Amino acid sequence: MNTSKPRATLADEATLQLDASGNLRHLLTLKGLDKALLIDILDDAEGYLTDPGSLPARSQSLAGRTVANLFFEASTRTRASFDLAGKRLGADVLNLDVNTSSRKKGESILDMIYTLQAMHVDIMVVRDASDGVPAYIARHVLPHVSILNAGESDVSHPTQGLLDMLTIRRHKGGFENLVVAIVGDIRHSRVAMSATHALTTLGVGDLRLISPPVLAPDEDRVRGARILDNLPEGLADADVVMALRIQRERIGNLDGIPGIDEYFANYGISHESIKHAKPDAIVMHPGPMNRGIEIEGSLADGPRSVITEQVTNGVAVRMAVLDRVGKTMAARP
Ligand code: CP
Repeated sequence: MNTSKPRATLADEATLQLDASGNLRHLLTLKGLDKALLIDILDDAEGYLTDPGSLPARSQSLAGRTVANLFFEASTRTRASFDLAGKRLGADVLNLDVNTSSRKKGESILDMIYTLQAMHVDIMVVRDASDGVPAYIARHVLPHVSILNAGESDVSHPTQGLLDMLTIRRHKGGFENLVVAIVGDIRHSRVAMSATHALTTLGVGDLRLISPPVLAPDEDRVRGARILDNLPEGLADADVVMALRIQRERIGNLDGIPGIDEYFANYGISHESIKHAKPDAIVMHPGPMNRGIEIEGSLADGPRSVITEQVTNGVAVRMAVLDRVGKTMAARP
């Protein structure tokens, strides 16, 4: 990112996001958050889920608060669900169109943040293509302001990680004995990073990250997971299979990346390849999907798929996180 500030480490960010009493003030990364806190957030989110066809859960816990959605990178699911989540908690929600903001006239990100603070924005939801931006902002805001990471480069997507955990728990009951296979462009995926952080903290039985070697992660970023390049081996007896798209926007040089047909044949999650997993394995994808590349369209639409549930659970998880940082604000002396 364009700043002279040193890059914050994930350990710094883990410390930054809790207040002196251990309450969640910012959500920047799942790495370093303890198991009890993750479970508490999942339990809170569970409470916001209603049966299909029922009216969504609502409360007024954020009445009088203002949430600003600041998406410096494209989004459908995360942005829309933070918008709905804030409104369902009674907050005023500001969706700033960054493309028509004064950032286009050269205003710095901090001047933009200070401007929003002056309008009494309490919670800023930030997505950015550069690493370190949510933590950088969190270090500069006033003590009463919370920053929520809505997707940071290839580093972290904590609310996606939480909604994925909620979806897995609702189908499989827990994590301890599960075999989870995440397949695709692991190297450039913030979704894979946050899922790895959460699953290892929650005590997953066996976490496998499967990709062509050119899209494999550095080992030190995914401690606790096994890195594999053979799909049948990686899917063998899996309980949960998560497909990821190739993050072309983060890959400077596409040399060495397999073509579409070769990629689908070797790493596509299809009716054929899913036979290696357990018969009751669930199929996940964070979206957006590239049908016919990392996942077969009819499998994504079929009975094993929980992809639309992931989207639904995303609103509940974001309500739980917004409510939690709101409570931290309210408890502040
Ligand atoms: N999963 C996810 O982050 O989707 P969006 O990019 O549409 O928000």
